[in-house]
Amino acid sequence: MDKPRVFITRKLALEPASILGPGIEIDQFDSEDPLPRARLLERVAQASALLPILGDRIDRELLDAAPRLRIVANHAVGYDNVDVLACTARGVWVTNTPGVLTESTADLAFTLLLTLARRIREGERMVREGKWLGWAPTQLLGMELRGKTLGIIGYGRIGQAVARRAEGFGMRVIFTDERGGVPLDELLSTSDIITIHTPLMPETHHLIGAAELLRMKRGVLLINNARGPIVDEAALVAALQSGHLGGAALDVYEFEPKVHPALLGRDDVVLLPHLGSATRETREAMGRLALTDIELVLRGERPAHPVNEVAAK
Ligand code: GLV
Repeated sequence: MDKPRVFITRKLALEPASILGPGIEIDQFDSEDPLPRARLLERVAQASALLPILGDRIDRELLDAAPRLRIVANHAVGYDNVDVLACTARGVWVTNTPGVLTESTADLAFTLLLTLARRIREGERMVREGKWLGWAPTQLLGMELRGKTLGIIGYGRIGQAVARRAEGFGMRVIFTDERGGVPLDELLSTSDIITIHTPLMPETHHLIGAAELLRMKRGVLLINNARGPIVDEAALVAALQSGHLGGAALDVYEFEPKVHPALLGRDDVVLLPHLGSATRETREAMGRLALTDIELVLRGERPAHPVNEVAAK
C-alpha cells in the first residue's frame, strides 16, 4: 500500500521529518511565499493530511479536491480559515495549536501597546532621520500606563496573559467575554486602552464598528492582534481621521495581507505583519503540535488538539 502523504503548505520552523515517522510521505511547499490557490488545490489531491497556515482557506472546494484527506492540522490557534462543519461532515479531523503561543502573543500585544502609548515609532524615526536636535520637556509625550484602565475583549488564555502583564504595569484591568466580565458597552466607555483577544466567529465579525468606536472615550488607544475582521477597518480609519481615537496598533488586518491605504501614512498607528506568535520557541512548538496530531490521526488514533469530533471510520 502507498504511504499516506502529508501536504505542508509552507516552510516550517522545524524539519517535518524530525517529527513524522518514515511511514509518512512529506510533500511541502518549502517557502515563505504565498501559495497560489490553484497549486494548493492541485497538491492536496493525493494528501491524507494537510498542514495549512492561517492564510490558506480550507473550504468545500478544497475538500472536494482532496478526497483522501483525514486531518487538517491548522498551524494556528485560530481556525476561522477552516470550514469545520464541512470537514466534520466528511469525517476530516481539524486540529489547532492552543497553549504554546499564549505568552508570545501576549508579549506582542504588550509590545504594540507600549509602542503606541510611548510613541516609539515616531521617536525611532526622528533619531534615524537625523531630526532629533536635543531633549525637550514637551517632546513626543505619550500615555502613562500606571492607573489607566485596560479593557480586554475576549478573556481566554491570551486575554488573561495580557491581564497579568497589565497588572505588572499598575493598570486596572476590566474584560468582557461570554463567560463574564463587564458588558461590552461599559468596557468601551470606561477603558483608556482597549485590546482585542477574541476569536473571529460570525458573532465577532465587525464587533468593533462605527457605533462601538464612537462609544469609546475620546483619545482611547485600540490594539488588535487577534483577527482583522473583528474591527471594521473603514470605520477605524474614520475614527482616527476624526481625532476621536487616540491611535491604533494592529498586527492583523481586515483584508490581510492588504492594509487600508489610509493607515499607512498615519503617525498615530503602529502596523506589524501578523507577528503575534513569531518567536522561534513558539513557532517550533506550533509545528510540533500540528505534526504530532497528523502522526496520531494517520496511525488511526485520536488527535491531541481537535476542534471537531469525527466518528471512527
Ligand atoms: C495566529 O494568529 C494564530 O491564530 O495562531
